[in-house]
Amino acid sequence: MKILTGIQPTNILHIGNYFGALKPAVKLSQENDLLMMIADYHAITVPQDPKQLKENILFATAAYIATGIDPKKTVLFQQSQVPEHTELGWILQTLTYMGEAERMTQFKDKSGDNQKRVSVGLFTYPTLMAADILLYNTEAVPVGADQKQHLELTRDLAERFNHQFGKTFVVPEPLIPEHGAKILSLNDPLKKMSKSSPTAKSYVSIMDTPDVIVKKIRSAVTDSERTITVDDNRPGLKNLLTILHLITGESLVDIAGSYEDKGMKELKDDLAEALVLYLGPLQAEIRGLLENKDELQKIIEIGSREAHKLANNQIKIVKNKMGLL
Ligand code: TYM
Repeated sequence: MKILTGIQPTNILHIGNYFGALKPAVKLSQENDLLMMIADYHAITVPQDPKQLKENILFATAAYIATGIDPKKTVLFQQSQVPEHTELGWILQTLTYMGEAERMTQFKDKSGDNQKRVSVGLFTYPTLMAADILLYNTEAVPVGADQKQHLELTRDLAERFNHQFGKTFVVPEPLIPEHGAKILSLNDPLKKMSKSSPTAKSYVSIMDTPDVIVKKIRSAVTDSERTITVDDNRPGLKNLLTILHLITGESLVDIAGSYEDKGMKELKDDLAEALVLYLGPLQAEIRGLLENKDELQKIIEIGSREAHKLANNQIKIVKNKMGLL
């Protein structure tokens, strides 16, 4: 199967990005053709510090490789090095209805009360995401639950284009994991864990130190009930159980069962310890890779050249069908 996914190089990845998208993509890369994209054009829809953005792009490359992406097997590339993304993004904008774009909940969340002062790019962001996917005949897209609506728009645009201009695009399926598709904020378990959150307490970054991880997990908001149960009405607790499940592979019910005689404090201590042990080797690997930034840069350039070849074929077909060539 042809698979593509992308992650924005904004700040540092948190465990929601890691378990919701990165790890599932790495698993899929073993038996499928994966394209793994650093979505830097998506990142600049909100202001970025140029120096920091450059660092974040290299960090993302290191993090993907440390998680198990093999750049010899996977096309690991940077969106802005492949100009066909913005070309097809523009074309798809002309096929997207205002009403469709206005319905996107992520735009509403990210723009908040400030809709008149956010960039037009933030508004048209889902059409660029559709272009990322449709350029490569992608059949499936591993993402967290928050991207489902963008995938629906992508499918609608593929079908609309095919209907108007003749069969061109593959209509892609979202691949949303059963557990981990929506890791919740630690200090407000009614919201998802988010990189753009103003409080670092709300997320665990994959680079957090052991002390910080322990502090954040200990202060995670749960509830005042004493027992440990798997219950959708206890989202804070279920979130912690889910993270532990993602690390150990044990079922939520089994994990909860093992805390029958213990309480929230023990669960939090064990989860913090498990996270520290899990993230330690990953962090060491990332740091090691970041010691050779030239090499990372070369890897992205090679991957981007490969993506450019594939995308260029597709954009020619698209333009031809539309009478643009
Ligand atoms: P981004 O960078 O916000 O997030 C990257 C991936 O992480 C998932 N994710 C989560 N999963 C579980 N729990 C959470 N709390 C959580 N927060 C984020 C996201 O669903 C995503 O899969 N638009 C995309 C980037 C993108 C893309 C693409 C993805 C650009 N082009 C093409 C797929 C295909 C985004 O902003 O992801």
